[in-house]
Amino acid sequence: MKPSRRQPARSRISVLRREAVIATVPVAVAALLGAAGPTAAGTTGAAGAGDPYFPLSGNGGYHVRHYGLTLRYDTSSRHLDGTAVLSARATQRLTRFDLDLKGLTVGGVTVEGTRAAFRRTGQELVVTPRRTLRAGQDFRVTVTYHGIPKPVTDPDGSADGWIPTDDGAFVANEPQGAMTWFPANAHPKDKSSYDITITVPQGRTAVAGGVLLGQHTAHGLTTFRWRETQPMAAYLATATVGKFQVQQYTTRDGIRVYNAVDAREARAAAPVLKKLPSVLEWESRLFGPYPFRSAGAIVDHAPDVGYALETQTRPVYDSAPDISTLVHESAHQWFGDSVSLTAWKDIWLNEGFATYAEWLYAEQHGGDSAQKTFDALYARPAGNHLWAFPPGDPGSGKNIFDTPVYARGAMTLHELRRAVGDRDFFRILRAWATAHRGGHGTTAQFERLAEQISGKRLDGLFQTWLFTKGKPDSA
Ligand code: TRP
Ligand code: ZN
Repeated sequence: MKPSRRQPARSRISVLRREAVIATVPVAVAALLGAAGPTAAGTTGAAGAGDPYFPLSGNGGYHVRHYGLTLRYDTSSRHLDGTAVLSARATQRLTRFDLDLKGLTVGGVTVEGTRAAFRRTGQELVVTPRRTLRAGQDFRVTVTYHGIPKPVTDPDGSADGWIPTDDGAFVANEPQGAMTWFPANAHPKDKSSYDITITVPQGRTAVAGGVLLGQHTAHGLTTFRWRETQPMAAYLATATVGKFQVQQYTTRDGIRVYNAVDAREARAAAPVLKKLPSVLEWESRLFGPYPFRSAGAIVDHAPDVGYALETQTRPVYDSAPDISTLVHESAHQWFGDSVSLTAWKDIWLNEGFATYAEWLYAEQHGGDSAQKTFDALYARPAGNHLWAFPPGDPGSGKNIFDTPVYARGAMTLHELRRAVGDRDFFRILRAWATAHRGGHGTTAQFERLAEQISGKRLDGLFQTWLFTKGKPDSA
């Protein structure tokens, strides 16, 4: 268990900003679709999705059903040309709405084929269509843009978004990098299908999630056409470019695998990538059927990045992963990608679960038992950083990838397992992944499900492990 492997080199020591607050209010469907938000007023779409950790991430007033992105990236000048076609549905009457887009130059915006007025303020692209959109109306927005994308620096000091490398770009958007390369409703509340077409110089490979519909080369350029039909949050999209060795096959379960590996990482990556089908089979036995139709890995050589990301169907690794990192990013396909967050404060539902999957994998493959891993962590003194804040509400966006979220989040699941027994514990994990498949889940919903399945009162356990400051008493 090495949560620090996935943490950025520049991550600073985090400080608990405020008391953890239990948020048990169920999230209304309307809020999920973006109709509500702190700045929602009248017929203007809100500038954010209402997430206090990232107030400007996402937008109110509409849901994006599909993104059609057509990109061209020149790896030597680092110039990106893009056309984004968003098929959306208004969730309220809209005289105006926002998209998230940071940097780059916008050439033009059309709504339903008609030129629309637009203005840029910070990370918001504010669009005023010629005709007001009716509540419930399906509409299409086209944005043309170009420029040299720049990664965004997260509150914890790490970089995300379009990160240039020596042979292309490492593209990882969690939590807010999508806006560095396409205009989006970039909050995990909003999930969409994607078609991503990328043209790069011949000899480079451009990899996104889902299936490769085709590739063709002409005039020294190669175009790759990718399609992900399952709902996907914007932070899980990628368009990573590099000089890659490509391997394609279909697993026994019919999952189409596409691996792209930087030659400098190939030797170290090979023995781990060989295990991908057996890892997915093992996780399918524990968590229920694999939620997607394609899989794979993008193993880049991006030494400055410092983390891997569970991009949907095809995680991106900044270097050859070890087996526990492969298990971790694969587990996210169920926990985070298929079952998504409605608020970043619930991040332990992603990271605690993926970390616990690492512990379970070790336990069932000749390594340490989860109990032993738990005990070693629990032995850390009260002043250790592990106990700096409770994982159920890390307090700010600065803390979402910090050790307490990963390690104490996993410890919470281990405590749950001890409280309800193995049989009910694994029922709970599987029921969670199944009931919320392709959608969203909140901490309060997870607690309720665990209580329903086990027939036990668990509020004390969750209160202690997720929401109470300091090192919990031993159970
Ligand atoms: N979610 C990633 C993982 O645990 C880690 C991650 C993504 C990350 N973006 C980050 C960590 C930015 C630190 C900073 O697999
Ligand atoms: Zn993770």
